Amino acid sequence: MLSTSASSKKRLLSGIKPTGRIHIGNYFGALKQFVDLQDKYEAFVMVANLHALTGLPTKEELIDDTRNLILDYFGAGLDPEKITLFKQSDVPAHTALSWILSNFVTPAYLERAHAFKDAEAKKKEVNVGTFTYPILMASDIVLYDSDVVPVGKDQKQHIEYARDIALKFNNQYGELFKLPSELIIESVETVPGTDGQKMSKSYGNTIPLFGTDAEITKAVMSIPTDSRAPDEEKNPDDLILYQIHKLFNSSAELKARYAKGLGYGDAKKLLVTDIIAFVAPMRERRKKYEDDPTLVDEILVRGAMRANDVAMAKLRRVYEAIGLTS
Ligand code: ADP
Ligand code: TRP
Repeated sequence: MLSTSASSKKRLLSGIKPTGRIHIGNYFGALKQFVDLQDKYEAFVMVANLHALTGLPTKEELIDDTRNLILDYFGAGLDPEKITLFKQSDVPAHTALSWILSNFVTPAYLERAHAFKDAEAKKKEVNVGTFTYPILMASDIVLYDSDVVPVGKDQKQHIEYARDIALKFNNQYGELFKLPSELIIESVETVPGTDGQKMSKSYGNTIPLFGTDAEITKAVMSIPTDSRAPDEEKNPDDLILYQIHKLFNSSAELKARYAKGLGYGDAKKLLVTDIIAFVAPMRERRKKYEDDPTLVDEILVRGAMRANDVAMAKLRRVYEAIGLTS
């Protein structure tokens, strides 16, 4: 059981937005690191449901995506006895601090955020939530004195923003916030999607981590392949198919088979088999939690209490430092 006493371990905090089913890019780029590091760090893992609001989901979508993401976290191997798992909306200190931190940020600075620029390039109208997204994310991180934030490469700038904002606050009111570091594993920082672009829920190019066999097969079959002659030699690393396959089987033997001209049809079948074998124990673990909603609810209540303890203590110190309490 997690104790509420101070831990000597360094802190890890991260989260994923509940916006549709997670994919293997989310897993290898971020979630796997949460799992691998849950013993080494004191880990806080959130469901970033307030950040999900920028896409204006329906109530049913948000409820469904939230429940699925929590089950996916457990399925992937997060152990609720080791980590603090919580819903961002269960900890009001995040939005309270976000307001305070917004006073340290200029619109010009937020306009330079990649995510904002991308959203603006795609849509006619960008909501204020999307614009101020990095401030809420900075709050998520600095409230917990997080040392490391495991994420994929697309989130790197957000962690830089969190550092910048924390530093500005510290310069004015004293060293209250720890400056966090991103933890990005280079080999999986941008997992390619089935079309070769970055795999993303919003590009329709994903292989869902907890998809059915049929969904996984369909996604793999859609990976484009060129018209190489069966025995023509190619560098496997140039193939989207192999770039994805090596996540599940990094053996020299597989690479050699690709290099020697393994037929694409056979390679795809093998990839489907490898993915299904890889996720089999995850599916089983996920099912255990899916069948026990009371346990899941208890874990969330416990997580919210622990997260609130830590976050409120920090917010109180912020209030004192600024002069909001006296
Ligand atoms: P998406 O882009 O699919 O909407 P999210 O923004 O919810 O994904 O990302 C959740 C986490 O997964 C973040 O840490 C993000 O950096 C990581 N991530 C998302 N897509 C990839 C990818 N293709 N490769 C590596 N990491 C990724
Ligand atoms: N912005 C992240 C994403 O799109 C999700 C997120 C919200 C997050 N708050 C965070 C990630 C704090 C790490 C730390 O994936």
